[in-house]
Amino acid sequence: MAQNNEFKTKIGLIAATVGSAVGLGNVWRFPAETQANGGAAFLLLYVACVFVLGIPVMLAEFSLGRAGKSDSVGVFRKLAPGKAWWIAGAGGLLASYLILCFYMVVEGWTLEYLWQSVTGGLFEPVNPLPAASSIEAEDYLFSHKMADYICSVWPPLIFTAIVIIINIGVLTGGVQKGIERLSNVLMPLLFIVLAALCVVSLTLPGASEGVKWFLAPDFSKITAHTVINALGQTFFSLSLGMGILITYSAYYPAETRLTRTSVIVAMSSLLVALLVGLIIFPAVSSFGLADHSLRGATLVFQTLPEVFAFLPLSRLWASLFFVLLFVAALTSTVSISEVTVAFFRDRFGMSRLKAVLTALCPLLIFSSLCSLSFSTLSEFTIFGLTIFDFLDYFSTNVLLPLVSIGICLYVGWFAPDRLLARQLTNQGTIRSRATSLILFVIRWVAPPVIALILISNWL
Ligand code: PFF
Repeated sequence: MAQNNEFKTKIGLIAATVGSAVGLGNVWRFPAETQANGGAAFLLLYVACVFVLGIPVMLAEFSLGRAGKSDSVGVFRKLAPGKAWWIAGAGGLLASYLILCFYMVVEGWTLEYLWQSVTGGLFEPVNPLPAASSIEAEDYLFSHKMADYICSVWPPLIFTAIVIIINIGVLTGGVQKGIERLSNVLMPLLFIVLAALCVVSLTLPGASEGVKWFLAPDFSKITAHTVINALGQTFFSLSLGMGILITYSAYYPAETRLTRTSVIVAMSSLLVALLVGLIIFPAVSSFGLADHSLRGATLVFQTLPEVFAFLPLSRLWASLFFVLLFVAALTSTVSISEVTVAFFRDRFGMSRLKAVLTALCPLLIFSSLCSLSFSTLSEFTIFGLTIFDFLDYFSTNVLLPLVSIGICLYVGWFAPDRLLARQLTNQGTIRSRATSLILFVIRWVAPPVIALILISNWL
């Protein structure tokens, strides 16, 4: 394998994989889900799902990628030639590209908010001004700003185009000089910003109420629905079923310990979610915003700017938060773009530059359509959903679970030569005591449980 087609250092490999896993799923989706599903009880379920299911499914993907040393479709063609398993890989490829189309738009918003925080535009008053300078006034201001930044035509289009170009720049650098170097710089930055914001939030007056709500579980809140949401959150936040982990693990050297890597990645992703919770819930409870709508986009793009507006040094805290969000999103889109780039390179023998341009340039159109579904194209629907919502729903709720089931069935039951055991023990050179337990989960637990998420989402 070419020099630039393997991660160079252990740290770089971990940083890149953690960077992929830690994304808007942790910083945006996790607090919104926690809020909607009753707080600490949801957190507890999520932690359990990550350990019981998330890590084994992640290991199934790692084993496939490193054994097949190819893209998400190529691994199946190599390991199961002439069989239909490649369809699972193709599903991952399709899911990753559809997700990319709308995720670039959200990444564009994070950059736009970062720009507005740094320049102070985010906190400038709007006309007409609401009467009282109170929570309602702030609420009005930031819902107005959100409509302005997200639902107008040109600014989100321009910021989306900028983030696509940034992604092209990083990916053109290749595995070591692009992805690994970026992750080595940005991941420590992400943890530093998280820690700083955590300290600020936890020292606010009345913060302890929010901490209690987030960390003291009320088990009466657990329902079948909560469990299913925790499972969905686990799959999304660990980037399972998207072809990303197969693609990245194809760049892992032979001596990488897969089990250890998967535990580090899962724990880092959990830690980020925990820290984000410790930033958001104390802050919103301190300012009496806990009852405000915290679902979806409004949480980070409306409620949090309200919190920052109440703090001294508003611009600094807002800028830091949106740096965090942008970094989390960027390292994730780079990883998900690499799924398609690797496919073009392996399947059609394209040079890296050509593969990157072929994969990402069409996004200038596709992502623009997603962005316009908040303005000009808001009336255009597919099965009653806007383009943006349809892509989100179809990829997350349909493709990801189907692909994960395919991968578990293949690795658990059909893969040749004890593929999982050989990969977890680095071809018998190291011990891996958990192998049979992991295989048991991949065979017996994961497929039916994922099928349950799938069916419940459809219902
Ligand atoms: N685990 C990633 C996240 O939480 O955001 C999943 C992901 C989604 C990765 C979208 C990449 C991406 F473009």
